[in-house]
Parts: sequence; C-alpha cells; structure tokens
Amino acid sequence: HKRRPLIAGNWKMNGLKIAGARTLGQVIEGYDAALRAKADLLVCPPAPLLYTFAAASIGSGVAIGAQTCHPAASGACTGEISAEMLADAGASAVIVGHSERRSYNGETDADVRARAEAARRAGLTPIVCVGETREERDAGRALDVVGAQLAGSVPDGEGALIVAYEPVWAIGTGLTPTVADVAEVHAFMRAELRKRFGAAFADGVRLLYGGSVKPANAAELMAVEDVDGALVGGASLVAADFLAIAAGC
Ligand code: G3H
Repeated sequence: HKRRPLIAGNWKMNGLKIAGARTLGQVIEGYDAALRAKADLLVCPPAPLLYTFAAASIGSGVAIGAQTCHPAASGACTGEISAEMLADAGASAVIVGHSERRSYNGETDADVRARAEAARRAGLTPIVCVGETREERDAGRALDVVGAQLAGSVPDGEGALIVAYEPVWAIGTGLTPTVADVAEVHAFMRAELRKRFGAAFADGVRLLYGGSVKPANAAELMAVEDVDGALVGGASLVAADFLAIAAGC
C-alpha cells in the first residue's frame, strides 16, 4: 500500500451503551500486532457514546470518530454538536457529507465543506463523503457527479483530509461496483486532487471506499491501487467482521 490503510466503522444510528461497549471492547481486543501492522482502525459511534468510547480506547490504537458536526464552534443551535465538542469528547475524526446526511438533511456541497472546515479548525480530520446515485451511474455521469462533489465539498488548503467514495446505490444494499469501477473512480479522485492541490499533498490523502464492504469482498477492494481503506457501515457493528475487513488490507 502506498498509504497506510484506514478501516473506519460508521455505526450510524446503531449502538447502545452496554452492547456498544462490548463491541468496542472486542474490536480493541482483536486489534493485535498483526492487524496493527496492516491498518489503522477508527470507530464512529453515535455521539452519546463518544466520550466513553474515547476513554475506553486510550492506549489501544483504535481511534474514535463522529458522524457529522455543525459548521459553527458554538451558539444558539438547538440539538447540534460542534466539531470542538466532538474533539473535547475525544474524537479525532468526523465523517461529513455522508449521503444519508446529504439526502435526509439536505446538506449541500457548500454545507459539507463548511463542516469539513469546522472539523479542521477543531483539530479533527474530516472524512468527506462523495458518491453517485444509481440513476447518475446509469446515465454515465458517475465521474462528473463525484468530481463536482469533490470540488464543492473539500476545503481549500492542505489540511487534514480523508475522502470516502460511497456510491449511494451500494450503501446497505449488498451491491458493490466492480473492482474496475472502483479503481476508475478512485484514480479519478486522485487525479482531481492532484490538479487542485499538487501531487505532494494529493498522494498522501487516503481515499476510502464505502458501500457494502464485507469480509468476503474486502481484500479485492483493498487491493485496488488508490483504495486506501474502507468506510464500513453494517459490517462494522459486528467486531469479528470489522476486524476481518481490516485483515483483508
Ligand atoms: O458509511 C458507511 C456506508 O454508508 C456503508 O454502509 O457498509 O452498510 O453498506 P454499508
């Protein structure tokens, strides 16, 4: 691998205190020397679990992240959580612009970018998500869509950055693009980042693939040149599966 792989688990709105702690404990226990040699691990639980997860993972090598953040540092925004608060709770990264947030919460590229900028200001690494719908892929527009989302959602400046390519139609469906399609999109994203930031920065950015990653398909996806890890939804809720995906790096 040209970059150290990252396997990130997005628990979405799943995981309660006791069962969640058990799963995290299993992940920490299973993150042995052999796995540490292969990949970084990041667990992104629902926000109420962040603080205890961060405390429980100290010294384990497993990092803890959040699933979204508000663009502002503080203020009258009932129900929202700032990046600063996530960092204060012990998160080191935050997913921004997941397709569920783009579609259910109406987040635009500009919103996603503002959240990514807020994450950087708070010292968090933003994991910026992009990806086309089934209709867009069928219309031959996948690269156009991903290119536009990348241009609009990734902040300027050479700050902390991870990008996740998640085709909307592959999320939670058991469907994945072909390895060739993943390779095409990832090479395209790398090229776009090089054009905008130069190779020195772009070649260090980890590009994750997400969408129905399972132990059975992880190794072939992780072997793609510009795939530097995975953003795992469903399979990250089962520690053995999450660890097996990391073992595929
Ligand atoms: O952020 C994770 C993705 O939405 C993938 O979810 O692995 O359940 O398909 P999934």
